[in-house]
Amino acid sequence: MRIPMIAGNWKMNTTVGEAVTLVRSMLSGLEKMNGVDRVVCPPFISLAAVKDLLKGSSVKLGAQNIFYEEKGAYTGEISPLMLAELCEYVIIGHSERRQYFGETGDMIDKKIKAALNVELKPILCIGEKLEENEQGKTQEVLTHQLTASSDRGYYVGGLVIAYEPVWAIGTGRSASGSEANETIGFIRQLVSHQHGSDIADNVRILYGGSVTAENIAEFIRQPEIDGALVGGASLKAEDFLSITKQTAEIRGLS
Ligand code: PGA
Repeated sequence: MRIPMIAGNWKMNTTVGEAVTLVRSMLSGLEKMNGVDRVVCPPFISLAAVKDLLKGSSVKLGAQNIFYEEKGAYTGEISPLMLAELCEYVIIGHSERRQYFGETGDMIDKKIKAALNVELKPILCIGEKLEENEQGKTQEVLTHQLTASSDRGYYVGGLVIAYEPVWAIGTGRSASGSEANETIGFIRQLVSHQHGSDIADNVRILYGGSVTAENIAEFIRQPEIDGALVGGASLKAEDFLSITKQTAEIRGLS
């Protein structure tokens, strides 16, 4: 049985003070939603403060990025060892990192290995661009991205996949539930070909891209979709709570 997951990717939003306020406003509500893994991913500088707030809570903490070296002369970077003290999850290979910061498949693969080395669970983001989608290249792109980060051990270590079509991120134009279900089904098949059906049946695959309190039910009702990676709507306590609550009601395992 795959435990559904709702993860909030706050991106480059919130000061430390604002992050604390946002978590305080959601925490007691989130605490009640058993049967769904709830994860918040604030900016690096807020991780320590949010970790304090989450002490004793079932809400989990994630980072938005990681560097693959353990320590050394890498000005401005954050290492796996630093994150391992603070959180349980880390988003890796988000399309904004690929697009604006030149992250390649090779770098992303190194980051996954580095995260798993310190027992951080990667949330690996994959997804096609608009033109790739329009040219019918979605499956080809996803196969390429997933093959660049493919090792049975990654799944055993708790890797989560987030399918995020780039054209749906922050645009207000989400995929339809059935479209996302079909593509996520394809990803699961791919994992099955690569590593066997035991791994494929257990890996959690989330949908991401303009998920809101209004459309979450459409995704969560789909059998292949195990939850959502939520950007914009995770910054509004009421919306994030509603997304999590609907997920718990439709798919929660409690
Ligand atoms: P969005 O972002 O929900 O604002 O579209 C999702 C993401 O980038 O993870």
